[in-house]
Amino acid sequence: MKKELVFKKERIEIRSHLASSYDRLIKNDVSHGLGLEKKSLPSKYFYDSRGSRLFEKICALPEYYPTRTEMSILREAAPQIMEDFTSGDIVELGSGANWKVRMLLDAAGQERLKDLRYVPVDVSESALQDASEELLRIYPELEVLGIIADFTVHMDLIPSERPRLMVFLGSTIGNFDERARRDFLKGAAAAMKPEDRFLIGFDMVKSRDTLEAAYNDEQGVTSEFNKNVLHVLNRELNADFNISHFDHLAFFNEEKQRVEMHLRAKRDMEVSIEGLDMQVEFRQDETIHTEVCRKFTESDVRKLVGGAGLEIERWFFDKKSWFSLVELKL
Ligand code: AVJ
Repeated sequence: MKKELVFKKERIEIRSHLASSYDRLIKNDVSHGLGLEKKSLPSKYFYDSRGSRLFEKICALPEYYPTRTEMSILREAAPQIMEDFTSGDIVELGSGANWKVRMLLDAAGQERLKDLRYVPVDVSESALQDASEELLRIYPELEVLGIIADFTVHMDLIPSERPRLMVFLGSTIGNFDERARRDFLKGAAAAMKPEDRFLIGFDMVKSRDTLEAAYNDEQGVTSEFNKNVLHVLNRELNADFNISHFDHLAFFNEEKQRVEMHLRAKRDMEVSIEGLDMQVEFRQDETIHTEVCRKFTESDVRKLVGGAGLEIERWFFDKKSWFSLVELKL
């Protein structure tokens, strides 16, 4: 596997470990997903720079409770977590914006920053670089090691010389299917040492109304975010999706205990994807499945964690138990 030093200055270093290029990855994923009987696309392609901006906008919407709820839990939990984690690496999987790690760093306090290193892991180089530089402006003492990698495949690339507090927040774990979720946690457990801790955010099952409102906001930001994947395909693969010919669809699938997002064709059409040399037919009302957002019960979390051979050190909830943060150890 290639390991490339992308960027280095004073206290920031960024290393790339991407096995195959983005270009090959998106081609494989899209030709596979749109070739299926039930069309689907991986949700990771939402997050180009426009998509990441839209996602940040979602996080601030009145209907989208997960971010604000998780932040309120983290505010209470951070001092307890950081009291025990005195030095080592704070590893953030799928880092994105900085707000959450800032809670941990603030809880650690100024004098302990020199004993900590922030290790964001993300597939997006630009996101890593921007976030790291911003963080260094706020915490000049901190050391940052950015890792460009797909952490769902390569837990082993994360440095392990020092104790680690790994964090995987936002209920992004809910975007995996059951198999991927189990494999991911087992992989994490296999890479963990007794002094390591793993903090994971889980969005909990709640009323259909609350769930559906969170993914069908009044302002239509989630709809834009969902449709953004078609912009990404148009740009990256020279496709000619007419975005106005698709509707945003998001609903709670109770049997599968998950919110699903789809794009629904408003009419029959044919789309050409030049970069794949592919024509895709759509019938009216046919959908592309673009995201699953699994919602969890306490017993789901216990089973998942136990199945991976991990133990719960602490479990933090908000007052309504809408969201939870689980701190795990070996
Ligand atoms: C942070 C990726 C887990 O599933 O709720 C927000 C993404 N999708 N609105 C989620 C998302 C639609 C979000 N994740």
